[in-house]
Amino acid sequence: MANKNLTKAKQAKKDEFYTQWVDIEKEVNAYIEFNKNVFNGKTLLLPADDPFESNFFKFFATHFNDYGLKKLIATSYDPSPIVNTQLELSLFADTNQTREIEQGENHRISKAYRIELTDVSDFDSDGRINIEDVEAKLLSEKRKLDLGKKSDILAYLTGDKNPDVKHRFSAGDFRSKEVTRLRDEADVVITNPPFSLFREFLTWVEPDIRLFSIIGNVNSITYKSVFPLIQDNEIWLGESIHSGDREFKVPDTYPLDATGTRVDDKGNRFIRVKGVRWFTNINHGRRHQPLALMTMADNIKFSKHKEVQGHEYSRYDNYDAIEIPYTDAIPSDFNGIMGVPITFLDKYNPDQFEILGSTQRGTHDRVPDTKKYDDYWEMKQNGELTGSSGGKTNENANLCQNDGKKNYFVNKSGRIVQSAYQRIFIRRKCS
Ligand SMILES: C[S@@+](CC[C@H](N)C(=O)[O-])C[C@H]1O[C@@H](n2cnc3c(N)ncnc32)[C@H](O)[C@@H]1O
Repeated sequence: MANKNLTKAKQAKKDEFYTQWVDIEKEVNAYIEFNKNVFNGKTLLLPADDPFESNFFKFFATHFNDYGLKKLIATSYDPSPIVNTQLELSLFADTNQTREIEQGENHRISKAYRIELTDVSDFDSDGRINIEDVEAKLLSEKRKLDLGKKSDILAYLTGDKNPDVKHRFSAGDFRSKEVTRLRDEADVVITNPPFSLFREFLTWVEPDIRLFSIIGNVNSITYKSVFPLIQDNEIWLGESIHSGDREFKVPDTYPLDATGTRVDDKGNRFIRVKGVRWFTNINHGRRHQPLALMTMADNIKFSKHKEVQGHEYSRYDNYDAIEIPYTDAIPSDFNGIMGVPITFLDKYNPDQFEILGSTQRGTHDRVPDTKKYDDYWEMKQNGELTGSSGGKTNENANLCQNDGKKNYFVNKSGRIVQSAYQRIFIRRKCS
């Protein structure tokens, strides 16, 4: 039990990293470029987003009028260790509010907020409308709360009170009744949710009912609950993050022992997180640009990849499809089924290709595997047995090869197969 709690605490800590303005701006710009009215007249909910700290809130409050938003709602999460405590980007960085917080027990306000903005106008009467107006408004509303008065904009969240412990969530938990009611009101949900609850969050968003855009790990593509949505073009990857990693701000207490961490000259801490992507159902231009490709013959002649140049394309041993090790090696003139890396989705244009399935179990009914490997066993390159049966590689995309690098599977007749990485099955659309 103690171990379980420790793992949970570790996981919760891993969820504490905060999105930078530039990453939000690039992605939202892609939606606006495709459809400048995408947020017009809409209610936008930012859950798991401390309104006093989050760049999501700051960004959308700044663009409230540009985007023609009807309402902007943001909620924070009570157990978050940073609720109103330390981020430089805090709207209240230089105010009494911050000092008040710093004097608080454990430097933390154990309160989750909800903010509902329906109007951003010249609250500070300086002749301009900008984020300082929102700040002025929120400060005056916060003062009301401090005096025990009611605010129309700002309120504390209370969390669930029902006795059923299983479904009783703390204040600001996206699964709580309060936040779920706000979701029901929202036309759009945008945030970087806790990675550890990505699947649950995506289901909670109800992508078939409202627009959404959330940050998650690229490997979430292969989840059994996520992949069918991608296959059916109900959700897709965003436009702005394709590869590499992204820098996120972390709390002051975050240990900077990993590689890819940084402290700036103001003492702000950052980590680089690998494999992040936007997952969305908001349209953008990139998914309508066709991939420029070479013919199979030209790939074999000119490909920059040594695995492609000078080699015939391989067929899988257990699927009626050919292996494509790199997205840019998809031949322009092949009309059969192809197995491509999951990063193909960064370039996927649904007018050009259709997705038929993936090698993940339970997601390839349309491309059934034709063979099982239960009578094989796994070997290391040094000839040692790993102790695993070949059943381990059933439903992977297997090739009749031994590349001299990875473990392989062999049967009693000496037949050898090796699995490619996770693959998505695609086919060119008829034009
Ligand atoms: C990856 S961080 C991102 C924070 C913020 N959205 C941003 O991008 O700057 C995820 C946030 O979700 C909060 N969180 C964790 N579990 C949650 C839950 N069950 N409901 C709502 N928020 C949660 C964490 O405290 C954390 O602040």
